[in-house]
Amino acid sequence: MSTQVEETLVLIKPDGVARNLTGEILRRIEAKGYSLVDMKLVQAERSLLAEHYAEHEGKPFYEPLIEFMESGPIVAFRIAGNRVIEGFRALAGTTDPTTAAPGTIRGDLGRDWGVKVQQNLVHGSDSPESATAELALWFD
Ligand code: TYD
Ligand code: MG
Repeated sequence: MSTQVEETLVLIKPDGVARNLTGEILRRIEAKGYSLVDMKLVQAERSLLAEHYAEHEGKPFYEPLIEFMESGPIVAFRIAGNRVIEGFRALAGTTDPTTAAPGTIRGDLGRDWGVKVQQNLVHGSDSPESATAELALWFD
């Protein structure tokens, strides 16, 4: 597989920030070899979240998801590395923390007791197109 340096957006969702997992999640990103390019703590406005999750508008989980994302501060990272878009998604694990593989952020740190699927600690862009659009949204 040839080298393909990319950048992606990672968000530590309000549950991750509230549970003081920012350092642990960044540790895993850095241990994998990805570089931190930019970071900030944000209280996200609904308009930003609506753009960020536009692909999910109208789905049953959309409104609870937006409300959860507004419920507290989020940490945003711009990270860089070889195939980092796909690589961070692999580090994060699948969407549902109950079934996310052990060894992943969601599989190791996702809490199962009284916790909803949207509380899955992290977001990572899922394609080069969404990484470009989401980095512009959160950082430019
Ligand atoms: P999605 O983009 O499908 O997942 P991912 O974050 O793994 O890219 O969905 C966005 C978020 O919406 C997801 O992280 C958690 C929440 N969500 C639910 O609450 N219920 C669901 O059934 C799905 C598919 C997602
Ligand atoms: Mg997604």
